[in-house]
Amino acid sequence: MRKIKEVLRLRYELKLDQRQVAGSCSIVVSTVPGTVAAHQPSVRKPGFEISSAVAVTDDGRSLLEQAEAAGLTPQSGCRMGICHTCTRRKTSGAVKNLITGAVSMADGEDVQICVTAPVGDVALAL
Ligand code: FES
Repeated sequence: MRKIKEVLRLRYELKLDQRQVAGSCSIVVSTVPGTVAAHQPSVRKPGFEISSAVAVTDDGRSLLEQAEAAGLTPQSGCRMGICHTCTRRKTSGAVKNLITGAVSMADGEDVQICVTAPVGDVALAL
């Protein structure tokens, strides 16, 4: 598992090519693409993360809108902060309530993703 993490780190964070990754990890070059593909998130960009699979940017849109734009279909209802159908657990990061303007940085809190926008890096389970 440690080697897989290192392969992904070298490939995504350091942007090394397959030969460089293979050399650094002492593995055969032909195993790099398979390892990367098997553990590649569906969408990955710098910014904040939704779940472990999607990363989106801090652009003022709600977490729900950004998740949907990334192709996810989190459960939602009113989309106005009333029904609580979209409530999810934020594991880290700061968010802004789009109705009240309140910013929260508490880890492990429930947020209504239809009326919550990221403020920097955010991770939550969808
Ligand atoms: S969808 Fe109703 S509160 Fe978010």
